Amino acid sequence: MHLKKVRKVIMLTYEQVLTKVETEISKIYFNEKPRSLFEPIEYTLSLGGKRIRPALTFMACNIYDENIENAVKIAMGLEVFHNFTLLHDDLMDEADKRRNKPTVHKKWNTNTAILSGDAMLIAAYQLVGETPAGYLKKILDLFSQTALEICCGQQYDMEFERRNDVSEDEYIEMIRLKTAVLIACCLKAGAIIGGASDEDAEHLYRFGNYIGLAFQLQDDLLDVYGDEKTFGKSIGGDILCNKKTFLLINALKLADKEQLKMMEQFHETPNKFAPSEKIKCFTEIYNQLNIKDITQNKMNYFYKMALEELELLKADKSLLKELYSVSDILMQRKT
Ligand code: IPE
Ligand code: IPE
Ligand code: MG
Ligand code: MG
Ligand code: MG
Repeated sequence: MHLKKVRKVIMLTYEQVLTKVETEISKIYFNEKPRSLFEPIEYTLSLGGKRIRPALTFMACNIYDENIENAVKIAMGLEVFHNFTLLHDDLMDEADKRRNKPTVHKKWNTNTAILSGDAMLIAAYQLVGETPAGYLKKILDLFSQTALEICCGQQYDMEFERRNDVSEDEYIEMIRLKTAVLIACCLKAGAIIGGASDEDAEHLYRFGNYIGLAFQLQDDLLDVYGDEKTFGKSIGGDILCNKKTFLLINALKLADKEQLKMMEQFHETPNKFAPSEKIKCFTEIYNQLNIKDITQNKMNYFYKMALEELELLKADKSLLKELYSVSDILMQRKT
């Protein structure tokens, strides 16, 4: 009789992974001066958030290796990096609230958000640089490419505020760059450290890319339809700064003359209206045009594409249970 050798992998649950993420984040501190540079970093990192990115790194690693310790530095580096992007993003988007707390540029000032953000980016590189030597070159290349792509995405996001002819394809490319590549990178980095084949690492990257696209669509939706307390950010922020979200692009495409005129008046005479009036007007038009359903359909499309990538993995399907369940949780998220 031949007994098939099965690698016994003890999989961590999503909850256990999140606990591990918090344990490791709490070890990051900046006991340095000037405190005014490092306090905003500690403030930002202490406010939580979903921690989805380092969790995905650990989970991808865990598919191929029981031991996820080698992935700790890159997972932490990626979360610190994500938080750095939020500091600068809030400044660029003039956002006053994140995770139900004042944003760094509101609590302190613009220069603090810039410089503490810069310091976070450097801290992120320091953490990534501590990745075990055997993986370092691959991980560093992936991380640097991702970081640069995010800058491109953020630049498109800003430029699109001033355009009214942004196509859906341009929008998808913009959110791929600003949001999806980081989620994809988190998964691929975990896979690399776990010892996945190049092919599996690539499928996990593509899985993360599609999940990331759906994730940003949900973020666009929550910016209009979310509950402020649960979402932790001010509702209507995207409408106020003319973000070409999936919602607005579709509304501009489907609106009749009357609805277009209603939206245009806010550009022509912006000072005539209170911010709440603009949010109300755009939200009503979105409702009239069923924009929520259209957005959710697109999300479901990307979600399906994501799951197809998981199907293509050579890894034992029983090891993917938690990843399927996290994908589902992310699609339903309200925070
Ligand atoms: C916010 O990311 C930026 C986007 C890509 C939409 P998250 O929604 O993951 O933010 P936190 O870390 O959970 O607060
Ligand atoms: C997120 O875009 C992209 C990055 C932070 C790089 P958003 O501007 O939509 O993110 P939130 O809504 O402020 O979290
Ligand atoms: Mg923003
Ligand atoms: Mg932004
Ligand atoms: Mg947003």
